Amino acid sequence: DWTTGNVIEEQVAAIREQVGDRRAICGLSGGVDSAVAAALVQKAIGSQLTCVYVDHGLMRKGETEQVEKDFVAATGVQLKVVDAEERFLTALKGVSDPEEKRKIIGREFIRVFEQAQAEIIADEGPAVEFLVQGTLYPDVVESGGGTGTANIKSHHNVGGLPEDLEFQLIEPLRKLFKDEVRMVGQELGLPEEIVQRQPFPGPGLGIRIVGEVTKERLDLLREADAIAREELTAAGLDRDIWQCPVVLLADVRSVGVQGDGRTYGHPIVLRPVSSEDAMTADWSRLPYDVLAKISTRITNEVRDVNRVVLDVTSKPPGTIEWE
Ligand code: XMP
Repeated sequence: DWTTGNVIEEQVAAIREQVGDRRAICGLSGGVDSAVAAALVQKAIGSQLTCVYVDHGLMRKGETEQVEKDFVAATGVQLKVVDAEERFLTALKGVSDPEEKRKIIGREFIRVFEQAQAEIIADEGPAVEFLVQGTLYPDVVESGGGTGTANIKSHHNVGGLPEDLEFQLIEPLRKLFKDEVRMVGQELGLPEEIVQRQPFPGPGLGIRIVGEVTKERLDLLREADAIAREELTAAGLDRDIWQCPVVLLADVRSVGVQGDGRTYGHPIVLRPVSSEDAMTADWSRLPYDVLAKISTRITNEVRDVNRVVLDVTSKPPGTIEWE
């Protein structure tokens, strides 16, 4: 019989058996999959698990705090947070090309994660043999089903560790679909904001600023995004929408009039979409009054933004993200 209780019980037993008295590492992204995978492994082996969260400074408002505070409070997990905002912003300085941004963010992410990994191993000894991954059933099918070990090259070796660290993978979500993962997360008592979180790209807000990524622009976009999310939630629309990227056109300016005078500010784009699997998507027909509320609030509350526009493009031809 499939129940979330059975799934949890079965996985906890299997993980205990697999890990024994050794140790595991898990990277948290703020997303559902890694959170549920980590919570399951935590339930099975407790303090033998260490989680790593790389704060690249490209998260939305409140998301890092959700991981640092709420997730830790709900699970009791041992968490290492790496504040790498400076490093990512420095690496992204002067870069506007979307692919270039993605490459830089991906590269820096791996470097920071590996460094944290090496530090944990230096602290805890060579018994760190397992890496937890939130692989879902659709990912398993897509990649042909093979798995087992991951070779992680460590560029930042500490204390005479071998050049190539070999980890065995723990993938407790391998048989589950997304909705089942959410149910398991709920059963494990994870915060609603994490369990019901809509998809969010790994490169974060870095690919939602058209133009160069700076701290100032990120802060501005974070404000606009938080307002859009707040109003969509208040209108009860979270389940009707697959996701709603909020995009800052940092290199575009338009003329406006606000308060006493003329402004020359940036547009914010709302990109609400409905979709089954993100392969194709349609733009969501949001109620006009909700759009009006979001627009009014963003232009009133977010400095330097004097225009809000709605993306009415399906996928294809438009992708969901702008970059
Ligand atoms: P596109 O823009 O290609 O996005 O229509 C499809 C889905 O994938 C998400 N996305 C990403 N997710 N890392 C991720 O984990 C990425 O680099 C990435 N890029 C896009 C996007 O949010 C949408 O759900």
